[in-house]
Amino acid sequence: MPTPSDRAAIVGAGHTRFGVLTEGPRELLSRAVAGALGSVDRGMDRGDVEEAYLGSLGFSGWQLGNSATLLAEELGRPGVPVSRVENACASAGYALRAGVHAIESGARDVVLVVGLEKMTDAPSRRRRYWLGVSGDTEWERLAGLTFAGVYALLASCHMQKYGTPREALAEVAVKNHRNALLNPNAQFHKAITREEVARAPRVADPLGLMDCCPVTDGAAALLLVRRSLAARYTDTPVSIVGTGAASDYLALQERASLTSLAATRRAAEEAFRRAPFDRRALSLAELHDCFTIAELLALEDLGLAGPGEAARLTLDGGTALGGAIPINPDGGLKAKGHPIGATGASQAYEVFQQLRGAAGARQVPHAERALSHNVGGSGASATVTLYEAG
Ligand code: COA
Repeated sequence: MPTPSDRAAIVGAGHTRFGVLTEGPRELLSRAVAGALGSVDRGMDRGDVEEAYLGSLGFSGWQLGNSATLLAEELGRPGVPVSRVENACASAGYALRAGVHAIESGARDVVLVVGLEKMTDAPSRRRRYWLGVSGDTEWERLAGLTFAGVYALLASCHMQKYGTPREALAEVAVKNHRNALLNPNAQFHKAITREEVARAPRVADPLGLMDCCPVTDGAAALLLVRRSLAARYTDTPVSIVGTGAASDYLALQERASLTSLAATRRAAEEAFRRAPFDRRALSLAELHDCFTIAELLALEDLGLAGPGEAARLTLDGGTALGGAIPINPDGGLKAKGHPIGATGASQAYEVFQQLRGAAGARQVPHAERALSHNVGGSGASATVTLYEAG
C-alpha cells in the first residue's frame, strides 16, 4: 500500500463540451490536453509529463491502432511512453487506474490520462455495430440484443425481484437532466418530467428514449502527480486514495445474477479496502448511469443503498443535489453525455472540480470525499476510484 505522500493526486483537468460536435478526434484530444495544462495553478511544462495513457474504444475504427501516439505528438514529445487502454465504456476509468499505478509503483512522478471518443460521425447502422462490439458477440449479439436490450433485461429482473417502480427509473433521468442544466459542458440542457420519460418512444421495454444515454463526442484529460510533489503545481490537489477494478463474464447468460453487477461489487470492495474512509464519509458520487436502471444497480452494488432500496432513496430525493448523497451532479452519462472512452476521465474531472469547490452552480457544499464508478459494457468490467480533497 503506498504511503499518503506516494499516492497520486490530480493537479489539473480539462474537458471539451460533450455533444454532437464538429471537431474531429485530434482536435478534441488537443483541447482537452490544453485545458488540463492550462488549469494547473502554477503551470506545468509539457516536458514534465513522463508517461501518458489514452482511454478510447476507437469508435468507428478511427485510428484503431496506436492512437495513443497522438498524445505524445500533442505534448510535443515523441519519445514519451504512451499506451491506449480499451475496456469499452470503462476505458478511461482503467486508463486512470494505470496512471495511478505508474505513480504508486514509483516508476513515474507525472502522468497524463486522456479519455476520448468521436461517435456521431458514424451513420446509425454503423453506430449499432460499434456499440455491439463490446457485448457478447458469440450469442447475445447474434440474437439481436443491443445494449439497451441488455439493460432492459436487467431492469425487468430488478423490477420483478424488488418491485422497483417505473417512476424510480424515470426519476434518475429527471434528476440527471436537471443537474445537466447547471453544467455548461453537458450535451442536453433540457429539463424533463417523469411524464415525458413515460411518454417517450420505447427503445427496449421497459426502457424508453429518456432512459438511455445519448451518442456523444467529447474528451477529458487529467494531470496526475506524486502527492509529495503536488505543491509545485497547486495548493488544492485532489488525492486518489483508493482504486479497485474487477471483471465478469461478457455474456449475461453466464452471470450469477441479473439484478446486481458483480464487477462493481468487487471493485468497490477493493477500493474501500485501500482507502482511509468508508462509504458513509462520501460527499458525492459519479456513477455509471448509461441507462437509468444502471444508476439504481450501482447505488446498491456500491453499498450506497441496500438491495432493492435504491428506488426509494432516489424517489425520496436522497440522490439529488442537496440530498444525502448527491449522485452525478454533472448530469451523468444520461444528460451530460457518454462518449464511450472519455467517460471515466470526465467523471474524475467532475470530482476534481467538486473537491476543489470549483463546480459553480452545481457545487455540492462542503465536498471533501468522492467516488467515481465506470462500467465496461453491461458490467464485464468496472472500476471504482476514491478521492479526497488535499
Ligand atoms: N436521451 C434524450 N434525448 C435523446 C437521446 C437520449 N438518449 N438520444 C437522442 N435524443 C434526442 C435527440 O437530441 C433528438 O432530439 P431533437 O429531435 O429534438 O433534435 C431526437 O432524440 C432524435 O435523435 P436521434 O439521434 O435521431 O435518436 P436515435 O433514435 O438515433 O438514437 C438512441 C436514440 C437511444 C437509440 C441512441 O441515443 C442510443 O443508441 N443510445 C445508447 C448508446 C449506448 O448504447 N451507449 C453505450 C452504453 S453501454
